[in-house]
Amino acid sequence: MMKKRKLVVANWKMNPTNAEGAKSIFGKIRRAAKKMKQTDVVAAPSFVHIPVLSKLLPKGNGKKNLFLGAQNIHQKDFGAYTGEVSANQLKEFKVRYAILGHSERRELGESDEIINEKVQSALRQGVAPIVCIGEKERDSEGEYLNFIKEQLVNIFRGLPKKYLADCVIVYEPVWAIGHTFKDSLSGTDMHVMSLFIRKTLSEIFGKDYGWNMKVLYGGSVENENAEDLMKKGDISGFLVGHASLDPLEFSKILKVFGSPQIKNAG
Ligand code: PGA
Repeated sequence: MMKKRKLVVANWKMNPTNAEGAKSIFGKIRRAAKKMKQTDVVAAPSFVHIPVLSKLLPKGNGKKNLFLGAQNIHQKDFGAYTGEVSANQLKEFKVRYAILGHSERRELGESDEIINEKVQSALRQGVAPIVCIGEKERDSEGEYLNFIKEQLVNIFRGLPKKYLADCVIVYEPVWAIGHTFKDSLSGTDMHVMSLFIRKTLSEIFGKDYGWNMKVLYGGSVENENAEDLMKKGDISGFLVGHASLDPLEFSKILKVFGSPQIKNAG
């Protein structure tokens, strides 16, 4: 299960403030990614920066490990949806992944049912869904586990099994997002959650599916906790928020998968 390639996703959220800044961070991440052997790196900038960064993607026919991701898509492929962007439109810019169901989008009213439609739209368009799940708080009775199960059941409802391998799951406990490594989940606790997620998926889809899916951790991943999470968490990688805007910090996180650090990054 852990033999698969690793995946590290940089979620830049509504940053940086201009295209020059985005190009600068992307260039440094590209250098760091180039040195990685068994790890794919996805940069997920704001929509406005996607066209310019698309031109900076590695060229040539060699094996590539740096990709562009969107932070959201609309659930329809095209149509009269003012202010929205579809996976269909993103293909032109070589966007290969889309973060779906992030808790900051759920705060704006996105339901599991809408996320389910978004997953289907992404898959129709050949864009790999990076599906976020996670509870807002934990209770000692373990009710939050039922909540996680419900999210998985709802989001993957009706999805043909053959598409599951193209999906990535990110467990992001909402209470751990946007803090420091001190407030994140521990590697040992992630191991428990990882088993729970895989077991639940196996119950829904059959054991060949659940145990083979990529499960990432997100929520205050920093240089200080990356190694513990990676070694003990039974995960395939990370979704990194604030630390992905600092190329030196991000390169240190990549280093837990064997990457050398970027020199003079800042
Ligand atoms: P964070 O964000 O690393 O800043 O906690 C993670 C995320 O919300 O994607």
